[in-house]
Amino acid sequence: ANQNRLAGKTILVTAGGTREAIDPVRFIGNRSSGKMGLAVVQAALAAGAKVIAVIGQVQVEFPNHPNLMVKKVTTTAEMLATTAASFEKADALVMAAAVADFRPAVVADQKIKKQISQDELTISLVKNPDILATLGAKKNHQIVMGFAAETNDLLQNAQVKLAKKHADYIVANDVSQVGSGFGVATDQVTILQPNRAPEKWPLLSKQEVGERLINILAKRWQQSK
Ligand code: PMT
Repeated sequence: ANQNRLAGKTILVTAGGTREAIDPVRFIGNRSSGKMGLAVVQAALAAGAKVIAVIGQVQVEFPNHPNLMVKKVTTTAEMLATTAASFEKADALVMAAAVADFRPAVVADQKIKKQISQDELTISLVKNPDILATLGAKKNHQIVMGFAAETNDLLQNAQVKLAKKHADYIVANDVSQVGSGFGVATDQVTILQPNRAPEKWPLLSKQEVGERLINILAKRWQQSK
């Protein structure tokens, strides 16, 4: 029965990091490998869901699977547009991607050259849209799950994101801990939901975190039947 628990559900998952061009050869990026997002995708497929994966820069391979549609993007604006286009038909959004909050105000159309005796270069950045907050504010039937990657004041910061981004869940990880966060195979996370005490999970493989997150969705749909 477990293999069909999520039959009929469509889960929209973002994974990996967005990139913002500085000039034709340089960009601002982050250390997301896509492992966490892939783990959610695999757990959702294993439970019989249809999955739409919107992926930025990743270092893992997404499988060929009849129930999986992969859409590749580069920038935050592209990730927003692509994710928004599938949001209405999704039953849940899981935002595991690491999204660039800012982008260069102008993208130089030629490679920026170092001038003779130049010691400093300033690049102005402008704010990117917040994908989770934008879609969270538009949700009707969807369950919206975000992540929070923090290096300090984990629970306070994650609590603010839960409310501001209209999320039903925030998966908070302290990325300053060894074995948790960007690039590694494991994660130690705390699950936040409105009006509930935070739930701290032990250090787990990302695969197991993905399975537990999909379980949360499955249980919630089970209860609302
Ligand atoms: O890919 P891995 O190497 O496996 O690493 C996994 C991970 C550490 C990237 C992942 O577990 C994680 O924490 N992803 C969120 C990283 C992040 O951008 O966190 P944040 O605290 O800055 O953002 C909070 C939430 O808002 C996230 O769900 C993020 O996807 C979303 N966001 C952020 C900024 C923005 N402009 N738009 C967004 O939608």
